[in-house]
Formats: sequence, structure tokens, C-alpha cells
Amino acid sequence: MKLAVIGGGSTYTPELIDGFARLRDELPLTEITLIDPDASRLDLVAGVSRRMLRRAGHPARVVATADVAEGVAGADAVLFQLRVGGQAARNVDETLPLQCGCVGQETTGAGGLAKALRTVPVVLDLAEQVRAHAPDAWIVDFTNPVGIVTRALLDAGHRAIGLCNVAIGFQRRFARHLGVAPERVELGHVGLNHLTWERSVLVDGVDVLPKLIAEHGPELADDLGLPVELLRRLQVVPSYYLRYFYAHDLVVTEQRAKPSRAAEVAAMETQLLELYADPAVDTKPDLLEKRGGAYYSEAAVALIASLLGDRGDVQVVNTRNNGTLPFLRDEAVIEVPARVSASGAAPLPVEPVEPLYAGLIANVSAYEELALDAALNGGADRVRNALLAHPLIGQEAIAGELTDLLLEANERYLPW
Ligand code: G6P
Ligand code: MN
Repeated sequence: MKLAVIGGGSTYTPELIDGFARLRDELPLTEITLIDPDASRLDLVAGVSRRMLRRAGHPARVVATADVAEGVAGADAVLFQLRVGGQAARNVDETLPLQCGCVGQETTGAGGLAKALRTVPVVLDLAEQVRAHAPDAWIVDFTNPVGIVTRALLDAGHRAIGLCNVAIGFQRRFARHLGVAPERVELGHVGLNHLTWERSVLVDGVDVLPKLIAEHGPELADDLGLPVELLRRLQVVPSYYLRYFYAHDLVVTEQRAKPSRAAEVAAMETQLLELYADPAVDTKPDLLEKRGGAYYSEAAVALIASLLGDRGDVQVVNTRNNGTLPFLRDEAVIEVPARVSASGAAPLPVEPVEPLYAGLIANVSAYEELALDAALNGGADRVRNALLAHPLIGQEAIAGELTDLLLEANERYLPW
């Protein structure tokens, strides 16, 4: 079984390799091809990946290449984990909106729109190469903003599923609190990528969410940076991305007073690359735990194993709505539990969504549609309309100001 990783030179890759090594029975890989335009990074990351697999006694060979066509040829699955413009562009996404009093975040708000504009054309180009050289391969997209990027891939007719680690993170955390194996925990996870709520937590068919909130509310709320009163009142657990909505102004104040996450991550990346360069390092460095991507390898292994092995189990993925949330367009991409088999992901039915969540989901889904239109067709007016539609922006004057700033800062990445 061959897996190709586009953006394979990412400092995150050893997280993936660690998962492949631990879960080799689930996913019998024989070749992992890391594809990346940055030769020096790729060399270091491929080196540590080979040492990790050797140490684990894993038989897969690691191939490193900058040639996408060659790299994806014959792959059974292709993972997209790229970041156009690297941490430098992310830093702009996280700081520029602050000038207008708006949250600075790489996937939420104006920063997420800038990322979508840079990323969608590149991803679509790469996906065409997958179609040409590995027509039967599944594309698993980790590239943010996952909702918009997955929609772009599906609209272009690719075999794609979007993936994020937020749901698996909650599943693991709840399992720890409850003292049960994670596989027994079924999430009532609903929404869009980075805009989700856990409305139920089933263990052997029984909803233990009220108990979790009663017994672990303060810890859960603390991790999310939200008041425990909110969890108690709503009886749901929002993802930590909801903090950018529910505590927007507070986040802006905090962000203005500290370095950006991109700056923190850039410093970690320098250290990680030094570790990867050390021939004695043959395990995943602890430092990688400080990144947000915990468990993403496990989510990837589970998804690919079910797609290629036709397992038919339930996983939280990003896929077409197709009526699951009746208040959204069928073509919209949503993040919900779905049954995953060789034919793809089929969302499970979802209980009617309360207005408190449905309103925001519908609003952000409309924004995502406009954001994709701007990414595909270009033009300042489309960018401005997407910003006007975003619930965290929404004011004409601010939308105009942000459009100018964002287009100027991203000029060299925009094909139009
Ligand atoms: C979480 C999100 C990812 C995001 C990551 C950022 O894992 O689900 O979509 O890329 O956090 O982590 P970082 O360490 O780069 O801030
Ligand atoms: Mn994510």
C-alpha cells in the first residue's frame, strides 16, 4: 500500500510517521512518499522518518521527492498537508485583522479567508496531478481551511474527504475523563470544520455528556478558554474555535498583547528541524506535542484504513451535506460523523440543530461559499463580499479596509 504526502517536508510529518509505526496492523504501508518543494526540509524530515520506521521495525520505505507526478504515481491515498507561504504568511493572517479590531486566526475570520485565497488554487492544481497519475487514489485533506478546500476539491470532481483532529481530540479527552477506551466513545459532533459542538457523548449507547459537564465542566471549560457557565447552560461542549466567536473581543485584546501563534510555531520549527538533523534522533520529539495537531496521525490512519479496507465504521469527517443539515445547501461541506467505506463517507442522520447553533452554521457556510467563489474567480469585490458575510466582520467599512490590507499582503500568492 502506497501513501503519498503532499507537504511531506512539514515538521509535523514525524507525528504521522509515529502513527503509521504504531498502527501498522491497521494500515499495512509499504511505501510512504514525501513530496515537498523545499529540498533541505524534505531531506531532514525524510531522514528522521526513515530512522523512526527502522527503529519501529516497520518495513515501509520512505521516498522523498519534489516531483508531484512521480511522487503520487500509483498511490492508494494522497494526504494533503501543505501551507502556502509557510508560517510567514500565517503570521500575516494572525496579525493583520487585529488592525481592524477583528480576530487574527489562521482559519477563522479574515485570516482564514486569506489562507483560502492562497491555498485553493494550489490544491486544485495538485489534485489535477493526482487525477492524472493516481486516478483511483483518495485525497485526504488536512490542508486548512479544511471546509473550503474540501468543497473546492469535491466541486472539481475529486475523490476527497476533509479531516481535522478536533473531534478525535475530544473523543480521546472524554475517554480519559470517563476511564473508558476511546473506541467506545461516540460523539454527537455537528457543524462545519472549526465550528462544531459536541451535543452528546455516547458510551455503549448512553449519553454521558450531562455527567461529563457536571463532573469535569471546569477542566473542559478551562481547556477551551470559555466560562464553565456556558457549558452548563447549553449542555454542549463547543470546540475551542468557538472561543473566537463567543469571546471575540477578549481574544482580540489578548492577541494584541502577545506574539502570534505563527511566531511561536516558527521558533518550534527551527528547534524541530535541528532535532531531525541529528542522526541519533529516531523517535517523535516531545516538542511536537506542543503543536495543535495531536492525534492527527490516528485520525488519518483510521480514515485511510476504512476507505481502502471498506470497513464501514463511523468517523467524523468533512464531506458533502446532501440534506444532512436541511438548512444548508446540499453542496455545502459539513463536519459530522459519517460511515466510511470504499465508496466514501456517508453522513449519519443528525438530530434537528437548535437555532443557537444552526444560525451560526448557516452564516459561516454562506461565508465559505463566498470565500470559495473569491478564491476561484478572484477580484476585490468577491473578497469584500465574503468578509461582509462573515459573522465576525460584517461591517462594510471594515470589510473594505480588510480587503485592501489582505490583498496587498498576499499579492504574490494570488494568481489573479
Ligand atoms: C489544530 C487544528 C488544525 C490546525 C492546528 C494548528 O490541530 O485542528 O487544523 O492546523 O491545530 O496547530 P499549530 O500548532 O500549528 O498552531
Ligand atoms: Mn483542524
